[in-house]
Amino acid sequence: MKTQVCIIGGGPSGLLLSQLLHLKGIDTILLERHSREYVLGRIRAGVLEHGFAKLMREAQCSERMDREGEIHEGFFIAHDGRLDRIDLHKYSGGNSVVVYGQTELTRDLYEARERMKGNVIHNVEDVYLNDIASDAPYVTYRAGDRIVRIDCDYIVGADGFHGVSRKAIPKGILREYERVYPFGWLGVLSRTKPVSPELIYAKHERGFALCSLRSQVLSRYYIQVPLEDSVEDWSDDAFWAELKRRLPAEVAARMVTGPAIEKSIAPLRSFVAEPMRYKRLFLAGDAAHIVPPTGARGLNSAASDIYYLYHGLVDHYQKGDNQKLDGYSDKALARVWKAQRFSWWMTSLLHRFPANSPYEDKLQDTDLAYLMSSDLAKGSLAENYVGLPF
Ligand code: FAD
Ligand code: DHB
Repeated sequence: MKTQVCIIGGGPSGLLLSQLLHLKGIDTILLERHSREYVLGRIRAGVLEHGFAKLMREAQCSERMDREGEIHEGFFIAHDGRLDRIDLHKYSGGNSVVVYGQTELTRDLYEARERMKGNVIHNVEDVYLNDIASDAPYVTYRAGDRIVRIDCDYIVGADGFHGVSRKAIPKGILREYERVYPFGWLGVLSRTKPVSPELIYAKHERGFALCSLRSQVLSRYYIQVPLEDSVEDWSDDAFWAELKRRLPAEVAARMVTGPAIEKSIAPLRSFVAEPMRYKRLFLAGDAAHIVPPTGARGLNSAASDIYYLYHGLVDHYQKGDNQKLDGYSDKALARVWKAQRFSWWMTSLLHRFPANSPYEDKLQDTDLAYLMSSDLAKGSLAENYVGLPF
């Protein structure tokens, strides 16, 4: 087979790029290791910045998001038994975020690709990137006992943190920066009315908690747990009891609980791989960088990569102009690092760090007290949370 751009990974990054390029007449083949049902079964992001929503509109995939997604103009920070609201709209100069689940967004992208007869191949095994330093790269994969070869101009590695693409960059070229946090998030999805119409991020001496939602009948809650814990250690009752303990009493009192329809633990990690381009290979999204989920930046950072890469490839194919493509890695990394800084900061502000000294705990309390007392600090939080410009 032959294509212009071979995309590895059928998560939101790969699907969105493939859809955008298709609309500009650029041919792609997308390879996904799992089935569509498996990809849609993963419960992940819930908060989208407007830049992402805008790209979904450009990709002609926004109809359901615009109808069902909720515009949120603020969120709460719970601490010391009370709730303080961060007015995103006021402090970011009129911006907001969209609450719309990654599962739904990915489903919309798959449906659009299907409608436009996009070439999306599932259940591929043993994907290899070949000759990426040459002018004639190709990708191979195994389908049953058949090896299939795809010749292309460019390869895009959008295959997430555990994918193969990043590993194809020679060790002497790739630099990796990493911070691993000593805890994870236990997440529960439940068919219950959300405890609050807006998100609540809670700092508590027992650990962080987050009250989020997917709709007014579907709630998503998280609690900070030790890395050693597994899902089996947490019955539904134990989860609800611990979540309530970490919230102000009046919030806990109105919490509606119910059976968990999904329960999973995500470790927290900060990670960046540089550069994001090596010869004919481009990395995008979680394949190149990971943030702890606290600031809701992960998927939104993927969106800016896709934006830069999309425009670079369009200029290359339509005008023969390689300037944007050549600047991709630097441009994408500049924004990626700002998302890293913000996610690290918000994680540091709100979690309990078991190894912290009393001095460090005091500084953390003071960081929060300062935030609550300063319009400028709230402005900085709001500007980052709604998303820095692309
Ligand atoms: P992925 O979604 O990981 O997709 C990569 C795809 O590649 C997968 O489908 C995988 O199966 C496939 N693949 C892997 N290896 C191969 C291979 N060898 N061959 C072919 N295919 C392969 N972000 C936000 O912006 N806002 C939030 O509110 C938010 N909340 C989060 C909450 C949690 C609990 C977690 C875990 C994450 C959250 N994120 C959030 C982050 C967000 O989910 C990710 O950043 C996003 O999924 C990245 O998309 P991606 O397409 O780059 O990678
Ligand atoms: C969700 C996840 C986040 O990391 C976050 O900051 C906000 C919301 C969510 O899954 O709903």
